[in-house]
Amino acid sequence: MTTSPFISREVERIVNGIPTTDGAGVSLLRILTPDLQRRLDPFLMLDEFRSDDPQDYIAGFPDHPHRGFQTVTYMLAGRMRHRDSAGNEGLLCSGGVQWMNAGRGLVHSELPEQEDGLMHGFQLWVNLPASLKMSEPGYRDIPTEEIPTYTTPKGVTLRVIAGASEGVKGAVQQPVTEPLYLDVHLPGDTYHEVALPEDYNGFVYVYDGELKLGEQGTTVHARQMAVLGNKAGGACIRLHAEKPAKALVIAGRPLNEPIAQWGPFVMNTRQEIEQAVSDYRRGLF
Ligand code: CO
Repeated sequence: MTTSPFISREVERIVNGIPTTDGAGVSLLRILTPDLQRRLDPFLMLDEFRSDDPQDYIAGFPDHPHRGFQTVTYMLAGRMRHRDSAGNEGLLCSGGVQWMNAGRGLVHSELPEQEDGLMHGFQLWVNLPASLKMSEPGYRDIPTEEIPTYTTPKGVTLRVIAGASEGVKGAVQQPVTEPLYLDVHLPGDTYHEVALPEDYNGFVYVYDGELKLGEQGTTVHARQMAVLGNKAGGACIRLHAEKPAKALVIAGRPLNEPIAQWGPFVMNTRQEIEQAVSDYRRGLF
């Protein structure tokens, strides 16, 4: 492919994930950090957990609260048990997604249900508009077979977790931010263009292999995130794999609202954060 009717966006910045620990001592790579929350609005955080050493994941994420946003957990390998304060419980298995609305608040635990083997997945935090921050909490467990998947004539496979791509509607649709969440697998020597509305903020996270992005062919290595520049007429992002590669392509409509965060609470004002802390301490979650 050498010509395209669409103008591709280009890489604005490459970000290396930062190794850290969270929960009760889970080792993970924090890819989208707080300093990028404005630039990548409505996305607040992206973590990758990937280890075959149980010491890195076995303690999991015991009871903790959330308010004001959504968490999206995508498991590539392994099993995670979820329990929340409303009595809901679910088991997230390889290839499955849990899309959780924290809304006005819940307390939950996310614990590995395996004592050995590979645990690999991602957790993305998607902000909610002010009008939905105090919505009813809830979640959906989507097993792997319910995630729409298609393969292009060139052999590029796309799993459409949220939004829509080339007319294939994803497993989840969200109002206002209308997030697009794709897991794209490219064989070697292939190009693929993912259509993106020009006013969306977006990024590509390469988790296996490497990709060249945009008309300029900027190289993005495994475990790097490319922040995509916004430009008038930029209607897609062009992906080029010289060798087999896998990446998440994530984009959404920015909220352009103030962001006030204190740990697991993300609201619009400091006063709302203080209210969240107070409500949590009083056991109202
Ligand atoms: Co959580």
